[in-house]
Amino acid sequence: MRLSFFFLLLFVLQEPTFAKQSSYVVYMGAHSHGEMSQYDLHQVKESHYDLLGSFLGSHDTAKDAIFYSYTRHINGFAAILEEELALEIANHPNVVSVFQNKGRKLHTTRSWSFLGLETDGEIFPSSAWEKARYGEDTIIANLDTGVWPESKSFGDEGFGPIQPRWKGICQNNTSVGGFKCNRKLIGARYFNKGYLAALSTSNSSHTTTINSPRDYDGHGTHTLSTAGGSFVRDASVFGFGKGIAKGGSPRARVATYKVCWPPINGDECYDADVLAAFDMAIADGVDIISASIGGNPSPYFNDTLAIGSFHATKKGILVVCSAGNSGPMDGTVVNVSPWIFTVGASTMDREFSDWVLLGNGKYIKGESLAPKSLQAGKYYPLVSAAQVKALNASVEEAKLCKSRTIDPRKARGKIVVCIRGDNARVDKGQQVALAGGVGMILANDHDTANEILADPHVLPASHINYSNGILVSTYINSTKFPKASITRTSTRLGINPAPFMAAFSSKGPNTITPEILKPDITAPGVSVIAAYTEAQGPTNQVFDKRRVQFNSISGTSMSCPHISGIVGLLKTLYPHWSPAAIKSAIMTTASVIDNVHEPITNASNIQANPFHYGAGHVQPNRAVDPGLVYDMTTTDYLNFLCALGYNEKSIALFHAGHYLCPKNFSILDLNYPSITVPRLKNTITVTRTVKNVGSPGKYKAHVQNPRGISIFVSPPILEFTTLCQEKSFHLTLEVVKGKISKNYAFGRIIWSDGYHNVSSPIVVMAM
Ligand SMILES: *[C@@H]1O[C@H](CO)[C@@H](O)[C@H](O)[C@H]1NC(C)=O
Ligand SMILES: *[C@@H]1O[C@H](CO)[C@@H](O)[C@H](O)[C@H]1NC(C)=O
Ligand SMILES: *[C@@H]1O[C@H](CO)[C@@H](O)[C@H](O)[C@H]1NC(C)=O
Ligand SMILES: *[C@@H]1O[C@H](CO)[C@@H](O)[C@H](O)[C@H]1NC(C)=O
Ligand SMILES: *[C@@H]1O[C@H](CO)[C@@H](O)[C@H](O)[C@H]1NC(C)=O
Ligand SMILES: *[C@@H]1O[C@H](CO)[C@@H](O)[C@H](O)[C@H]1NC(C)=O
Ligand SMILES: *[C@@H]1O[C@H](CO)[C@@H](O)[C@H](O)[C@H]1NC(C)=O
Ligand SMILES: *[C@@H]1O[C@H](CO)[C@@H](O)[C@H](O)[C@H]1NC(C)=O
Ligand SMILES: *[C@@H]1O[C@H](CO)[C@@H](O)[C@H](O)[C@H]1NC(C)=O
Ligand SMILES: *[C@@H]1O[C@H](CO)[C@@H](O)[C@H](O)[C@H]1NC(C)=O
Repeated sequence: MRLSFFFLLLFVLQEPTFAKQSSYVVYMGAHSHGEMSQYDLHQVKESHYDLLGSFLGSHDTAKDAIFYSYTRHINGFAAILEEELALEIANHPNVVSVFQNKGRKLHTTRSWSFLGLETDGEIFPSSAWEKARYGEDTIIANLDTGVWPESKSFGDEGFGPIQPRWKGICQNNTSVGGFKCNRKLIGARYFNKGYLAALSTSNSSHTTTINSPRDYDGHGTHTLSTAGGSFVRDASVFGFGKGIAKGGSPRARVATYKVCWPPINGDECYDADVLAAFDMAIADGVDIISASIGGNPSPYFNDTLAIGSFHATKKGILVVCSAGNSGPMDGTVVNVSPWIFTVGASTMDREFSDWVLLGNGKYIKGESLAPKSLQAGKYYPLVSAAQVKALNASVEEAKLCKSRTIDPRKARGKIVVCIRGDNARVDKGQQVALAGGVGMILANDHDTANEILADPHVLPASHINYSNGILVSTYINSTKFPKASITRTSTRLGINPAPFMAAFSSKGPNTITPEILKPDITAPGVSVIAAYTEAQGPTNQVFDKRRVQFNSISGTSMSCPHISGIVGLLKTLYPHWSPAAIKSAIMTTASVIDNVHEPITNASNIQANPFHYGAGHVQPNRAVDPGLVYDMTTTDYLNFLCALGYNEKSIALFHAGHYLCPKNFSILDLNYPSITVPRLKNTITVTRTVKNVGSPGKYKAHVQNPRGISIFVSPPILEFTTLCQEKSFHLTLEVVKGKISKNYAFGRIIWSDGYHNVSSPIVVMAM
């Protein structure tokens, strides 16, 4: 197989390359057909060759240029084209958009930040699990780096026959050395033509693409097992965090669609492949698509995740995506279209804590998942990395413990303090170990504040927060012979406050459509323990020869599949609910209070807001009984696109049929479960409709006004007599005179029948 791969690569490289040639996706909207035969699929492909052929002059040239035809639900193709031609094709009446096959990133802080925590216990109270039969009727798809099929998390003991509606396959299912699916892991496919196209036109030297859905990275195994992993007893990372590993929907069936490969200039998942995976997953019959990936936000018709997920939503599939790891700056959130469920990341109430003991008798709490520990009670000389820097290294680089910046003659036998930033945290530890250091104290910088991650370091270590880092530095400066010790790690539960927002979690406002609040929700994404590949060490660094069945990682990549798993429960419980209804149920029941009954904070212990967490922190037990939902259909999303000014012709293609835009639809009236008014002058009225999915009852509106804004609800009481009855209400927002702050202000509306609290954030900026 290696041979055929190298052959392919050489072939691609030897083709004449023109400066302006690159790979593009030509998106042509939806297919108007229903179920299609093989013959029809062939016809669709031919129509793609014809279209491109009309530009290139020949059907055969077009056939050579096209490397994907999207034939099932998504209409279009991916091809190697010259830039000018791409622009020309964009004007063809059957084409919605043409965009470059760009790379996207996996949303973990993995390579630069590693940590550890568990997914079981507190987060998924058993009543929701039992009500929803552990998600047993649901099929969850994951677009990621593939999966390690031998992982116990994908064991199928006790699983019955696969649902007859499943149409997927298991690629590379050969009996010897192949990739084996079972009744739990029911499907596996890989998509790498877009990746190979990008590789052929890049200066990157990666040659390790293997034509298989197997996970050689770890990310995909971790995310899929978080969403739908089976119960596995005695799971732990080096004995820490021991417990029963399980996904959010432990009885769901799962399928992997491998679209992410070794990075080319930092990007690992390519648009053309992502779109192909969406098209296939929809056709295979999945119920949920979980995608912990994202690029830069772009207009919806140029955004492969927005396009793919729109087609999925039309077929009743809810798509859950990560918000990104570019926090804590404002406006960094990605995957912002209203039909996507966008997830931020926050902490859990569990810690892998150890203590740094200083020679002056002070002790400081840190975290680590290092399997090695120092001799109990023994103190070692303590130095800052800058004090033991190599002569030819700069202080700035040495502080971060970058490669070859520490002088072994000075560091040997000592505990070295490294500052967080830039290079991988686990690599800092490796550098200290290489220089003969006995231990590492990893101190946060100002921006990462109190965000502490327990990593599987190669030497005894402790990760401490920013203010404690200053304390250590002050101590070092205060005495001639500073010394310290680091205790063994122990797993602690009931930590508070929890949750708080991870500093890395990307934040609103939404830079594409500020009227839609993003992210939508937050879930655990710090130090999450789940299954891992056995093709890599837990730090994913070449020096790490250790192998683990479970690993601890952090990122919105890890919070996203928590939500996917919970969506799986709701899907089993309410198979006929729309994606929007399920999303609404999870959002309106979320909490904005932490485990000490205070408002959820950011990583600096300052009150957080909906730009951090959207509707709040997920509460699965409440989500299965929301009372009311804000529902939407495809028509609502089409009206939304109309209101954004997308032209009717493109919308018609997107939709596969004529669509008449309503004359007077306001984006503010999209029936979203949160309300955002980014430019309020004087006063405005927005409308929402709620559907009763509980019992008959009378709901009363409770409003918390955003600062400087007054809100009037009409009617203030909604009475429901039957199931599925819908009622509309209006919210009139008015700027209080003299109170224009030109900053966003945050409030809430809660519809309550005394038991159900149907809560939506209100986000307003007065101009
Ligand atoms: C979106 O695609 C269109 C062509 O369809 C192109 O003109 C435009 O520059 C793209 N915009 C972005 C932000 O990529
Ligand atoms: C095994 O792989 C082949 C080739 O991809 C495919 O046709 C077949 O359906 C697969 N079998 C299963 C059980 O998925
Ligand atoms: C996996 O199967 C595909 C065809 O379905 C084949 O091209 C590829 O070489 C196989 N990969 C491995 C590693 O066997
Ligand atoms: C390869 O390309 C990237 C992006 O185009 C660039 O940043 C990098 O410097 C290039 N590397 C080399 C060795 O040319
Ligand atoms: C410093 O010099 C050593 C020995 O020549 C070399 O191995 C190392 O890479 C250099 N470090 C830096 C930061 O340049
Ligand atoms: C660091 O932790 C200490 C408790 O050990 C706490 O008092 C302090 O506020 C934390 N610092 C930051 C920046 O969160
Ligand atoms: C300790 O001394 C170093 C070197 O003089 C200095 O850079 C650092 O800021 C000092 N630490 C504190 C907390 O003052
Ligand atoms: C937390 O919020 C405060 C106030 O907005 C801000 O100054 C601080 O930088 C934030 N910290 C983090 C880690 O986001
Ligand atoms: C259109 O909307 C505006 C503002 O909501 C309203 O004043 C106007 O009456 C509406 N026109 C029609 C025809 O519905
Ligand atoms: C709804 O909110 C009320 C008032 O804050 C509270 O007393 C009640 O416990 C809440 N109900 C639920 C199910 O959370």
